[in-house]
Amino acid sequence: MDVTRAERLGFDPTIPSYARMFDYFMGGKDNFAADREAARHMLDIAPELPLMCREGRRHLARVVRHLTSVGVRQFLDLGCGLPTTGNVHEVAQAAAPGSRVVYVDNDPVVALHSEALLENTADTVVIEADLRDHEYILGHPRVKGLIDLARPVAVLLHFTLLMVTDDDEAAEAVAGYRDAVVPGSHIAVAHSVSDPKPEATAELAKIYKGSGAAEGVRRSQLRTKADVERFFDGLRLVEPGVVYIPHWRPEPGESLPAPETVWAVGGVGVVER
Ligand SMILES: C[S@@+](CC[C@H](N)C(=O)[O-])C[C@H]1O[C@@H](n2cnc3c(N)ncnc32)[C@H](O)[C@@H]1O
Repeated sequence: MDVTRAERLGFDPTIPSYARMFDYFMGGKDNFAADREAARHMLDIAPELPLMCREGRRHLARVVRHLTSVGVRQFLDLGCGLPTTGNVHEVAQAAAPGSRVVYVDNDPVVALHSEALLENTADTVVIEADLRDHEYILGHPRVKGLIDLARPVAVLLHFTLLMVTDDDEAAEAVAGYRDAVVPGSHIAVAHSVSDPKPEATAELAKIYKGSGAAEGVRRSQLRTKADVERFFDGLRLVEPGVVYIPHWRPEPGESLPAPETVWAVGGVGVVER
């Protein structure tokens, strides 16, 4: 891969990207050989990863439907990933027509791809930004044009804080949004955790770090359930609190995989001041 080609494309397809590996696990086509190779290596250690990704999307849809049911109509999806099944605007607008969605990702490929796919979608914008910079995001003209910050907003941090490895930085990012939005706003977090499978997850972390992948992949971090609970400091957790994602408000008849197969937790907190 010569530099010129990477420069021409705006990214280097020989470097695995988290968003494209996730796309591969979801059965998508927006991934390259390097992404597939890294993803297959991870599957050797954790064959449940595609199940986890699918459960993650089901959980996200339940969270968004819950938020529309309590009156939220504005969503900020931070680290949105490549468009896939059950995108936030589809779920939100099906449940509450007119819901507005801002998609944010720091991967330029995700931002470009999403922008092209959502070009004619009403009430939806995409921006390329780092979720840690809430002032930039909330002050962005396209965000301000769509989201009324005087009204409640749902901030979705779905499987993205794991890529903000520094615990203080991750906590500061959550607190930044918590303090910037009006009461009645919600913050939802979903995060992989090491508790049920400490050995496999430590092995995966080693692969991430040595993979030569994009910095976000190399630095991604698994936390414990207790670490994830701390992200809700200063918020009122809605029932059932922070739980393994299949157990977060499952719909009647939905199957519940065991935590060992879906080692990720999620919760939703309400801003009250
Ligand atoms: C595992 S994907 C999750 C996608 C989606 N939220 C979901 O749950 O299906 C993580 C996404 O977060 C993005 N990301 C990682 N670090 C980020 C950051 N600091 N700011 C914005 N996006 C980030 C990655 O590019 C990737 O698309």
